[in-house]
Amino acid sequence: MTATATRLTGIGEYYFSQKLREISTLNSEGKNIINLGIGSPDQPPHPDVIATLQRESSRPGSHAYQGYRGVPALRNAFAAWYQKWYEVTLDPEKEILPLIGSKEGLMHVCMTYLNPGDQALIPNPGYPTYSSAVRLAGGEPLPYLLTSKNNWLPDFSMLDELVAGNPRIKIFFVNYPHMPTGQLPSRDLFEKLVAFGHRHRILICHDNPYSFILNKSPMSMLSIDEAKGTVLELNSLSKSHNMAGWRIGVLCGAGPQIDEVLRFKSKWNSGMFLPLQLAAARALELGEDWFTRINEVYATRRKFVIDLLRQIGCLPTEGQAGMFIWAAIPSDYADAYALSDKILYEAGVFLTPGGIFGTAGEQYLRVSLCSPEEKIQEAIIRIKTALS
Ligand SMILES: Cc1ncc(COP(=O)(O)O)c(C=O)c1O
Repeated sequence: MTATATRLTGIGEYYFSQKLREISTLNSEGKNIINLGIGSPDQPPHPDVIATLQRESSRPGSHAYQGYRGVPALRNAFAAWYQKWYEVTLDPEKEILPLIGSKEGLMHVCMTYLNPGDQALIPNPGYPTYSSAVRLAGGEPLPYLLTSKNNWLPDFSMLDELVAGNPRIKIFFVNYPHMPTGQLPSRDLFEKLVAFGHRHRILICHDNPYSFILNKSPMSMLSIDEAKGTVLELNSLSKSHNMAGWRIGVLCGAGPQIDEVLRFKSKWNSGMFLPLQLAAARALELGEDWFTRINEVYATRRKFVIDLLRQIGCLPTEGQAGMFIWAAIPSDYADAYALSDKILYEAGVFLTPGGIFGTAGEQYLRVSLCSPEEKIQEAIIRIKTALS
């Protein structure tokens, strides 16, 4: 047998793919597990978006390879969206690169900027793909601690010291609204991050897929003066437009950096299916009522999820943005893996243990708002019955 490449050392199977297999085994034994783990929106995209995809796919000329930069209609729609919602002006010719989901963008950024042995700061807790993308690119993830005491915000004095003495650190990954804690950004935070990027001449990669979910004031880090040049921002239609399976994301930033990333991306894959690009452009035109409607659903679910968490003695904080609720677990469990497994095997409900987002998440659970209210209510009843 051929041995796997060394770049896969330390890269296991993604936690969720392994857990979903376990859940599907339990389901095949008739357990009917309620999965409140994954953040994949269960509501459909807007009907006009689906109609655009259907109409455009039936045109004979729609099926050819597409250019690497995406079609002008999609880049213009992203530019208009950034202007309307974030008050950020982007040149659709140079400063916008459509992606096949923002996750691939994380890999592209790492492959573009990291040499073997270079380091990248990644949030602990944080989205696990940051560290795997850094590792796969030959780099070394350097976790920086976020704590509830500091409202899950970076400790700049600690980071200044760390980065000043270490020229190997090339990228600083940040993500606000933060997943998994739901912490919102502020202008002050974004200004500090941009200043930090300039001070240390490192790239700030801001991952921004949750700004429209349970958040009245969406913000882009590119709205800060001088951000372009030190900040690359990823965005996504997965959560904001219920299009997770469509794989539509975008990378925004200064033209020369977009060109650098494109040098890698254009060797890696091709442009997206044209009807997908046109349907995504339609989605980006949706107005306030779209976001109001999806957020009403999440807000109702949030109340039930908070109830559920309190029932098992957890402490969710108020005002979290995004499609999850993050809560500290009671001290009678060794960690949230133990509590999650207990709830899975005794109540048939899956809640994500916070440890998969880093050591700082070990005493927390994350619950997704992507299940209908009835399911959440059923989960509450099951947990009450099993654990009381
Ligand atoms: C913080 C964060 N970044 C990026 C992504 C990836 O999103 P996309 O569907 O655009 O690849 C996710 C998906 O769960 C996420 O939680």
